[in-house]
Amino acid sequence: MPNAIQTKAKNAKNDEFYTQYADIEKEISAYLEFDPDVFRGKTVFLPCDDPEWSNFTKYFAQNFEKFGLKKLISTSYAVNSKNYKDGYQPTLFETSAPYFDKVKTVNNGKIFTLTHDKTGDHKVNVDDLEWHYLEGDGDFRSNEIKKLRDESDIIITNPPFSLFREFLAWIIEVEKQFVIIGNMNAIAYKEVFPLIENDKMWMGNGFNAGNAYFSTPFAKDYGEGVYNPETGLVKFRNVCWFTNLDHGRRHQPLPLMTMADNLKFSKHKEIKGKKSYDSYDNYDAIEVPYTDSIPSDYDGVMGVPISFLNKYSPEQFEILGITQRGCHDKVPDTKKYDDYWEVQPNGKKTGSSGGKTNENPNLVGNDGKKNYFTNKEGVVIQSVYQRIFIRHRKSTK
Ligand SMILES: C[S@@+](CC[C@H](N)C(=O)[O-])C[C@H]1O[C@@H](n2cnc3c(N)ncnc32)[C@H](O)[C@@H]1O
Repeated sequence: MPNAIQTKAKNAKNDEFYTQYADIEKEISAYLEFDPDVFRGKTVFLPCDDPEWSNFTKYFAQNFEKFGLKKLISTSYAVNSKNYKDGYQPTLFETSAPYFDKVKTVNNGKIFTLTHDKTGDHKVNVDDLEWHYLEGDGDFRSNEIKKLRDESDIIITNPPFSLFREFLAWIIEVEKQFVIIGNMNAIAYKEVFPLIENDKMWMGNGFNAGNAYFSTPFAKDYGEGVYNPETGLVKFRNVCWFTNLDHGRRHQPLPLMTMADNLKFSKHKEIKGKKSYDSYDNYDAIEVPYTDSIPSDYDGVMGVPISFLNKYSPEQFEILGITQRGCHDKVPDTKKYDDYWEVQPNGKKTGSSGGKTNENPNLVGNDGKKNYFTNKEGVVIQSVYQRIFIRHRKSTK
């Protein structure tokens, strides 16, 4: 679920959240560890990155030589096109340039490129960045920026949250390599899940437990709990990196216990002491409420939490679908609930039809805590959280 700040940012279309240098360094190190030449001879494009502020630009400029980059391009979005603008001041770096332009500084995007040693100090780094104003406002959807996208090899950024779907589609349509930040919830989007299912996109190494801390000039709008006045950062939950660059964690199999051992020794009360794992009422699959409870010796289909993707290894598991309408052709739902009705835990009908829970992962029973659905025959079912359907890649027997 998005936290309060994410909902507020989305509603207000605030996209001004900046990524910390250490988070970028940690993530990119994982790809370099797997393949030290991953960036060698490549053009890296940072399309939502004001080079004067963005740590992505700083990081890649500082490491230009070490990574063996061919070219670094970083573009920014004009302040007058942003949803959120407040107290904008061009930097001294910009105003001191002979071609500084009072009108363009607010209406045009900027482009910074790095290709060679400009200063003559025999090093290629931040000091060698060249910049000029873009023709347009730097919108990633403009032809001007699309051209830069097309000439690049790898696109890396934290894109505007409010345009995540469009941004991903913009990358996928040209089949580029990418490393971008997004929200875990995006996995369930109809246009996103097929990429995950077909191993065209996967999770990067991630933020610690999905918690990410960004800086924003509008932090104080968000209040206590999410804004930390000491660090000046705001906290987001469920944040992850999406990529199609390979990394080592993807190839490490999850260590798992057998089903019998899980039922005997699991640390989770939902599993320990039960006779068997629950089966869904409407899918031919078992419910596995925690990733670490996936049995090592079950060959059928299993429904697992979305966070499983942080541990997913394509050699160990096959992804078959998600309990989202239109995303589980390989695991069809076997039952509809149109003749059921919804009831609150206190027994009061909500007025909603059971059709509402069609294609959710539903279990027979009532935990007494959540709304349930029932029919004329008195069958009672409840849905659990959204699940991804998986199967062991190789027979476990
Ligand atoms: C989440 S912020 C991240 C900024 C930077 N990439 C970073 O990680 O520090 C997204 C940035 O994209 C910019 N932006 C918003 N809409 C855009 C668009 N249509 N095209 C390009 N950039 C856009 C926002 O102004 C914002 O600065």
